[in-house]
Amino acid sequence: MEEVRALGKSSEKPISLMRGEPDLPTPDHIVNAAHDALRNGRTAYPNNQGEPNLRQAVARSMERDHGLHYRWEDEILITSGATFGIYSALSATIDPGDEVLIPEPSYDAYRGVVELLGGTVAPLRSKCTAGRYSFDQQAFASSVSPRTRAILINTPWNPTGTVFQLTELESLARFAAQAGLIVISDEIYEKLLYDDHQHHNAAGVSADARQRTILINSLSKSYAMTGWRIGYCAGPVDLLRGMALVLQQSSRGPATFVQDAAAVALDGPQDCLVQMRSEYARRRREVEQALDVPGIQVYSPEAGFFSMVDVHAISNDSNQIRRVLLQEHGVVVMHGAAYGPAAEGMLRISFASGGSNLTEGLRRLRAGLQSQIS
Ligand SMILES: Cc1ncc(COP(=O)(O)O)c(C=O)c1O
Repeated sequence: MEEVRALGKSSEKPISLMRGEPDLPTPDHIVNAAHDALRNGRTAYPNNQGEPNLRQAVARSMERDHGLHYRWEDEILITSGATFGIYSALSATIDPGDEVLIPEPSYDAYRGVVELLGGTVAPLRSKCTAGRYSFDQQAFASSVSPRTRAILINTPWNPTGTVFQLTELESLARFAAQAGLIVISDEIYEKLLYDDHQHHNAAGVSADARQRTILINSLSKSYAMTGWRIGYCAGPVDLLRGMALVLQQSSRGPATFVQDAAAVALDGPQDCLVQMRSEYARRRREVEQALDVPGIQVYSPEAGFFSMVDVHAISNDSNQIRRVLLQEHGVVVMHGAAYGPAAEGMLRISFASGGSNLTEGLRRLRAGLQSQIS
């Protein structure tokens, strides 16, 4: 961002294909629900664990969408976005010196939280076959140590776009059981699926997995509600109790009227999801078509709004390619190495923002890649 800001002063404004911030508006019926809640005086302190109406709506949606049963009274916690869910889950599970396994390439904000809490990140190697990343089963055993306490996964997976298959989650659950690990599963892209890909919850694969898994979710991406800061977690009582204490001593939960609107989002009509999904699917095709450049390979995601683009044909130094794209072509993308060495030689392109931003950004990106490949 600093590089972008510095450049902003000296040249034409760069176009960003970097952020995972939906440009679609929050659906009207959700906005109206927040207005109504405000007018009805829903402005007092919320219940620290989350307002009962929202916890009940979360429990209903998990049952409806995934057949998962969580008690709203003590197995669900309402948080300020998935970000606070991840923070409270890690706070409640790790002590200074503990290790957290994180599959690589990994969402860049995970590492900071682990380190803030005095823990260390142990990267879990992944393998990439024809652009699809998955766990490297061999890597499980070699990456665990006596200090490993938890494994933090993300399905659908930012930045790779992989949706873990049931068999993949089953082997992860077996590994977690053998090593005695807590599984923290960030599933915030679960509703943005393409083609016939299906989302599976890490907690749903077995009774043992349910007892050792904390599910993290939020309405940021699925209902275009990033600025509302509203999310939820589900997990067994003993883990949830610790997380609720962390929340009680810090954020005290999202605003009461925001919680009411979130309950309406989860309980209300879901056709807005279908519309958003089809818009993102259209943009995903636009990325594929615009970057159809000899030597460059676009890997379309199974879910989410990031495409990985293989630029090994230019060089293995994705950060250098990114810099040239920014400085000489005015387009901002993320270099794969920002997510760990497993994504070196790749760029991550966001299509969370569409319209002329995407079209012009892709035009510049195509020109920038073509000029570097020749
Ligand atoms: C994998 C992942 N987890 C969590 C977040 C943050 O979500 P929230 O807005 O709900 O805090 C993001 C945002 O980009 C993300 O990509």
